Amino acid sequence: MQNDGNTGSAPKHADGSFVYYIAPAEESCITQIMEIEQESISPPWTHGALLGEMYRDDSFFAVARSAAGTTPAAGFVILRKTSEDEGELLQIAVSRVERRRGIANALLLAALAYAEKNAVKTVFLEVRKSNVPAVSLYKKYGLSTVRTRKDYYSDPTEDALVMRIQDLQEK
Ligand SMILES: CC(C)(COP(=O)(O)OP(=O)(O)OC[C@H]1O[C@@H](n2cnc3c(N)ncnc32)[C@H](O)[C@@H]1OP(=O)(O)O)[C@@H](O)C(=O)NCCC(=O)NCCS
Repeated sequence: MQNDGNTGSAPKHADGSFVYYIAPAEESCITQIMEIEQESISPPWTHGALLGEMYRDDSFFAVARSAAGTTPAAGFVILRKTSEDEGELLQIAVSRVERRRGIANALLLAALAYAEKNAVKTVFLEVRKSNVPAVSLYKKYGLSTVRTRKDYYSDPTEDALVMRIQDLQEK
């Protein structure tokens, strides 16, 4: 499956030029992706797991890269096609210093565009119940909560919301 990440709308400068663009993740981005994971995701994925994901045929793994060439990955997203018509958003995170600039918007749009292009009708994800920024992001793009998984997360223990977007092919 093609991992073409050049879709979605990235943040722009006032003159209309792109600050970031969405591109397929490459091995050279892994160090920066792991830094973002360390500050935002518990437990973070290992180098091996990230590398493996990059070469899967059924996975969309993209980064937001600065057009100036200074930041190989200001944020990243991983969406895997899990069956004929379903996908799972496995990861989305943005570097702390780059947040609230529309990067997650662009990453999520690109991942959903990939899903649509690859016959995925329904995308699921899990998120900590207290993760207001992420839940708000997902709701903005039409995901809604379908159930709660009690004490799903550890360190700290917390319920997970299972969220879903359906009928992607019909939108
Ligand atoms: C969630 C996260 C990816 C958002 O990234 P971001 O680049 O700052 O988000 P954007 O600037 O693109 O904002 C997109 C939408 O997300 C929501 N959002 C982002 N930050 C928010 C905040 N602090 N409070 C409330 N809503 C927020 C809003 O709906 C926002 O849309 P709006 O600008 O129209 O209000 C980022 O906070 C992050 O990396 N968090 C840690 C990792 C994580 O929790 N990932 C999800 C695991 S399931």
